Amino acid sequence: MAKAKTTFFCQNCGTQYAKWLGQCNSCHEWNTIVEEVIQKEEKRNWKQTSTVRKINKALKINEIPFDKEDRISTLNNELNRVLGGGLVKGSMTLLGGEPGIGKSTLLLQIALGIPKRVLYVSGEESQSQIKMRAERLKSNNTNCLILTETNTQNIFRAIEVVQPEVVVIDSIQTLHTEYIEASPGSISQIRETTAEFIKFAKETATPVLLIGHITKDGTIAGPKILEHMVDVVLQFEGDRNHTYRILRANKNRFGSTAELGIYEMQNSGLREVENPSEILISQKEGNLSGTAIAATLEGMRPLMIEVQALVSTAVYGTPQRSATGYDTKRLNMLLAVLEKRAGFRLGAKDVFLNIAGGIKVDDPAIDLAVISAILSSNEDDAIPQDYCFAAEIGLAGEIRPVNRVEQRILEAEKLGFHKIFISKFNKISKSFTSIKIVKVAKVDDIYANLFT
Ligand code: TYD
Ligand code: MG
Repeated sequence: MAKAKTTFFCQNCGTQYAKWLGQCNSCHEWNTIVEEVIQKEEKRNWKQTSTVRKINKALKINEIPFDKEDRISTLNNELNRVLGGGLVKGSMTLLGGEPGIGKSTLLLQIALGIPKRVLYVSGEESQSQIKMRAERLKSNNTNCLILTETNTQNIFRAIEVVQPEVVVIDSIQTLHTEYIEASPGSISQIRETTAEFIKFAKETATPVLLIGHITKDGTIAGPKILEHMVDVVLQFEGDRNHTYRILRANKNRFGSTAELGIYEMQNSGLREVENPSEILISQKEGNLSGTAIAATLEGMRPLMIEVQALVSTAVYGTPQRSATGYDTKRLNMLLAVLEKRAGFRLGAKDVFLNIAGGIKVDDPAIDLAVISAILSSNEDDAIPQDYCFAAEIGLAGEIRPVNRVEQRILEAEKLGFHKIFISKFNKISKSFTSIKIVKVAKVDDIYANLFT
């Protein structure tokens, strides 16, 4: 087959080269030179046989046909929630995540669960490896076909035979198109193969799910343009040593990016976690000092999270401060506030903080629970298990209001908490019956409420 005409461009300054170089002679940047197609072949289309070119017509917005039921439910509530109701026809979804986090497991599970004809293409595992995985997932769906292939032209040939309603690709970094010389995983291959699949998805209204590897710094490997090209970017994250996995949407052209899906990795695949609060609060006997429950929101979802603190006299000269799942700088700030504004002498103490369940929390509403846990450990006085907290702490030691406090209170009430501490400045319009709301204004107030 005749090759398309390609040339090399520096991605930084745009200088053109006849061959690849490590460093651009013009702007002296390293690794910026990328092969690009300059003259596309006429036949170059995902569909090998089509030669007719369709010309699109401009339409008024009210003339555009709109089909409400354009989403395919994946039968996986957590994924549906993150996608905003299901897979949109003709959409391109990219799933990124660290190696071993469970991307292939998640998408194989979706492929096997969805009541549609699915083509699952893997460039990473053999058919028998996938069969083994499917055995673990205890699924025996006859609607899902498995193909191991990395050449996109061959994949499209298989697609024409199978006529799938959903396509899954594991992973974009293994694919290569015949039209470009570059090796699989290179920027130009990723861009060209993605473009081919986007064309396929849009022309046939088939949703395509792509797995993408991520680099050391946590971004999806390959050009940033990949994220611009696709419709939805999902991120699968979690701690490998913990069983919880969080699915987030970083970009979603068809829904909100505030939604969150939670899974638990089990021996038989990923289990959807419908009520995350129950598992994020550790089981224990009796009251232990140093723990406090925060009523946080992750996206739109209320989560009750357990914060554990350990305050002990420093054995070595410089006291240690360490936090898991929480920003250490923010911990230092809260300790400084406690020291300066409320007179707690923590300067010579080691402080360790841990968020249960191995998840990371960004919601500032966790602050009040953090200082309550620290004070509780420092006093060696347990906080009753049916208390919870939702407020931010300011530098002046003031307790600040948080957004959507009613939703947090509702979740706390639903889970059987009897008391919630919030900021004095949070306005509540609704009345709650079974939970007592305690409003506090300063760090001293919380101490007085809990330990005196
Ligand atoms: P995998 O989906 O291969 O990760 P990725 O595609 O993101 O690299 O998941 C690999 C991990 O998942 C592996 O360490 C084993 C674990 N796992 C289970 O715990 N239970 C299971 O049922 C499966 C299939 C995998
Ligand atoms: Mg994989």
